[in-house]
Amino acid sequence: MAINPGITKEIEEAKDFFGRILEEQLSRIERMKGEEGWTDYGKLSPLVIGIAGGDGIGPFISSQARNVLEFLLCGEIKSGRVELRDIEGLTIENRVKANMAIPDDVLAEIKKCHLILKGPTTTPKKGDPWPNIESANVAMRRELDLFANVRPVRVPSRNIDWMFFRENTEGSYVLGSKGVNVGRDLSVDFTVTTEQGSERIISLAFDYAKKNGINRVTVVTKANVIKKTDGRFLNVAERIAARYPGISWDDWFIDIMTAKLIDPARAGGFRVLVMPNLYGDILTDEAAQIQGGVGTAGSANIGKRYAMFEAIHGSAPRMVEEGRQQYADPSSMLKAAAMLLNHAGYPEYSRRLDMALDICLQYEKKVRLTGRPDGATGDGFAAYVMETLKDGSLEKRWKEFSSRA
Ligand code: IPM
Ligand code: MG
Repeated sequence: MAINPGITKEIEEAKDFFGRILEEQLSRIERMKGEEGWTDYGKLSPLVIGIAGGDGIGPFISSQARNVLEFLLCGEIKSGRVELRDIEGLTIENRVKANMAIPDDVLAEIKKCHLILKGPTTTPKKGDPWPNIESANVAMRRELDLFANVRPVRVPSRNIDWMFFRENTEGSYVLGSKGVNVGRDLSVDFTVTTEQGSERIISLAFDYAKKNGINRVTVVTKANVIKKTDGRFLNVAERIAARYPGISWDDWFIDIMTAKLIDPARAGGFRVLVMPNLYGDILTDEAAQIQGGVGTAGSANIGKRYAMFEAIHGSAPRMVEEGRQQYADPSSMLKAAAMLLNHAGYPEYSRRLDMALDICLQYEKKVRLTGRPDGATGDGFAAYVMETLKDGSLEKRWKEFSSRA
C-alpha cells in the first residue's frame, strides 16, 4: 500500500532535522580533536568540591557523604586547600520551572567547581506528573563532557573485582531526547559512535589496566547486529589494543556478557570491561546487584576538566512519600565520595574509606540498614563509618576480615 501523500512534508522536515544532527555531531568531533589535556587537581588551590543534593532521598544521602568528606579532609579544609561548596537548585521542581534539564544558573555554579558530588536526580519519563524533560544526569555528562563512566564492583568472596568503563557521552544517549516521530505510527531514535569518542574511553580502560598491572581488557558490543556504530567501537578497540602488547583483550556481545557475569566459572576472570553507553547502563546495574544491590555501588563520571561522582541508583521518591527518607542507605554515595577522593589526589583517604566501607557493609556489619524504621538511619550508618575510620587499627582489622572472607 502506498504511504499517505500528506506525509511527504513531514519526511522532508525529518530529513532536514537529520542533516542538522549530522552537522552538530561533526562539530562535536572537531571539538574533541581540539580537546585540552587532563586537569592536575593537585595544582589547584583551593580545589572546589561542589555538592548537589538532588531529589528524593538525594539530599539525605549526600549530606551524609558530605559529613564523611568533611571528616577526612578536615586538615585540607582548615588550611584552605580544599573547599566543600553546596550547590543549590538541582531539583526536579526547579528544572520543571525552567523547563531545562539543568537550569542555566545552576549549571554556571556547577562549572565554578572542579569536582562534583551529586545525589540522585529524578529523571522524568512518559506518564510522570512532570513534563518529559531530559535527565539531569545525561545533560550534566554532556555539558561537562564527562565521557567516562567508571563503576567498580567488588565481591571478594566470589573473587570478583571488576572495573567498568562505560562510554558516557555517545551511543543512544547523545541524541536520546532528539528522536523524531513521523506521521502517527513511526518513531525513530538515533545512536552515535565517533572515532574520537570511542578512542578516548577505550584508551582510558587500557591505561587503567596497564597502571594497575591488569593484563586483560574485555570489550562489550553487539557488533554482529549493530554493525555501523558498535562495529566502529570494536574496530577502534582492536586498533588501541595493538598499542598495549602486554594486555590481552577479548570481545563479547552484550547478551552473552550478561549471562557470563553470573557464571561462577567465568565471572572472576573479567577485570576491566569497556563498552558503549547503553550496554554499560544495563551491565553495571546487573553487576551492582551481584555485589548486593544498586544501593551499594558508586560511580565516577570523568572528563578531562571536570569529574562528577554519584550513586548509580535513582532518587527513590517512594521512600520520601512513605516518610522513610532518613532510613535510606548512603553507602552508594560514600563509595562515590571514595572515588572522588582518589580522583582529587587523596588516594590514601580513598583507600581508608573503602576499607571502612568493606568492614561496615561486608564484614562486621554492626549497623544494619533496612530502609525502614526496624533498621538504622543513614546518619547512624555514616557515624558508624566515621567511628571505623577513626580506629587506629583500621588496616589491621580490614586485613583480618578479608583473609577470613
Ligand atoms: C545511570 C542511570 C541514568 C542512565 C539515568 C538516570 C538517566 O540509570 O546513571 O546509570 O541511564 O545513565
Ligand atoms: Mg543506570
